[in-house]
Amino acid sequence: MSTKHELVIVANRLPVRRLQRQGRREWKLSPGGLVSALVPILEGRNGVWVGWGGHTGPAGSSFRFGDFAIQPVPLSKRELESFYYGFSNRTLWPLYHDAVRWPEYHRVWWGPYKEINRRYAEAAASVAAENAVVWVHDYHLQLVPQLLRRMRPDLRIGFFLHVPFPPQELFAQLPWRREILQGLLGADVVGFQTKTGASNFTGLAKRYARAKGSPNALAYQGRTVRAAAFPVSIDFEKFEKLARTATVQADAERFRYQLGVRRKIILGVDRLDYTKGIDIRLRAFQELLSRGDVSLEDCVFVQTAVPSRERVVTYLDLKKRVEMLVGQINGEYADVGRVAIHYLHRNLPMEELAALYVAADVMLVTPFRDGMNLVAKEYVATRVDETGTLVLSEFTGAAVEMGNALLVNPHDVDAVSSSISRALRMPRAEMGRRMRRLRSAVRGHDVFDWGREFLEALEA
Ligand code: G6P
Repeated sequence: MSTKHELVIVANRLPVRRLQRQGRREWKLSPGGLVSALVPILEGRNGVWVGWGGHTGPAGSSFRFGDFAIQPVPLSKRELESFYYGFSNRTLWPLYHDAVRWPEYHRVWWGPYKEINRRYAEAAASVAAENAVVWVHDYHLQLVPQLLRRMRPDLRIGFFLHVPFPPQELFAQLPWRREILQGLLGADVVGFQTKTGASNFTGLAKRYARAKGSPNALAYQGRTVRAAAFPVSIDFEKFEKLARTATVQADAERFRYQLGVRRKIILGVDRLDYTKGIDIRLRAFQELLSRGDVSLEDCVFVQTAVPSRERVVTYLDLKKRVEMLVGQINGEYADVGRVAIHYLHRNLPMEELAALYVAADVMLVTPFRDGMNLVAKEYVATRVDETGTLVLSEFTGAAVEMGNALLVNPHDVDAVSSSISRALRMPRAEMGRRMRRLRSAVRGHDVFDWGREFLEALEA
């Protein structure tokens, strides 16, 4: 397929997954807010998505999927180890999340990171029409903007970082800090989840890459680069509608009945990642039980954790720690037929997740650091009756817009436990007031606004 495209999305992963059905290979759209926001834009603009299909080995050629095109990028087993598990997820991921785990700086991973970024840039260059718009996503691909600009100076290039951009003194640890900054400065617009991210980047670009000026207009190599906040969001209406369906309402009722109608339900929904603070909320709950501030008569905790990056040792350690804590707490406090914590280590279908949100009285979102955190936004979107309390870490991008949650410092176990306790006892009027404001904040800026605003800034 040699068609050229007016709009090119470049991301580590493709928006489709390959399924094997009755001996036949099929591609299916992956669930998720980013995909649902970008696909309609791609479809309306003769677009193409460049990314990795999730399997190692040859990637196959480009193909059409509905009204847009897919351009797969291949990764070998060795490249997956060094580029994805290594540099992306053992160097950049912990470094960008406040170094809550030690970032590993291995020179043998840097070469593959550069090489794979070049591969993505070449793939994008080969499918972009003259003067096309290219939107590059996330920490895996920070060198792509500059590489692509060298190959195709005619393009408008945007970059959006979904994770936090760290403070100067942390980023400065990175042996390849200048190269990464130069890579990002190849874009016309560099988007972050928060103003803090944009200002960290601006300070670093001036210090290490000789950029000049302010975030709105950074002068770099004779061009102007704009660094700004574009907080990502969710498809609010989709979650709201889903929450109102008879199936979701019935499932939520069934969950309430199964868990105990008189017990309040505390919920955690995360990828099993050490940045999410799953362990701290388990400890806080354990302390509440041990002090007798709450009892199994009053409440029950449901934690779902989607398996993630399981070949990385820090993720395996977290898995063991969470399983140990759940076992310890249930061992100590559960009765026959009534546990303290239900722990589901798997991916749940969207309907089941929505039913859990609808059933939950208290939602715990306690990351040590998070670019945005869409679970917080999904929870409030499903609370159509304006009940429920959100406990939210101050260190999430979401906290900037969601000041009506109970904001908490997740490093302070006493603060987490007293927030849980306060949430469980919150008067109905206060709960309603907070939830109304939270819902209106998220409704007022959904993922479609986010996509439109970024592309408008890029094409301005
Ligand atoms: C974060 C990143 C995404 C990533 C997702 C899942 O949200 O910002 O880029 O796709 O985690 O992680 P995975 O490593 O499975 O792609």
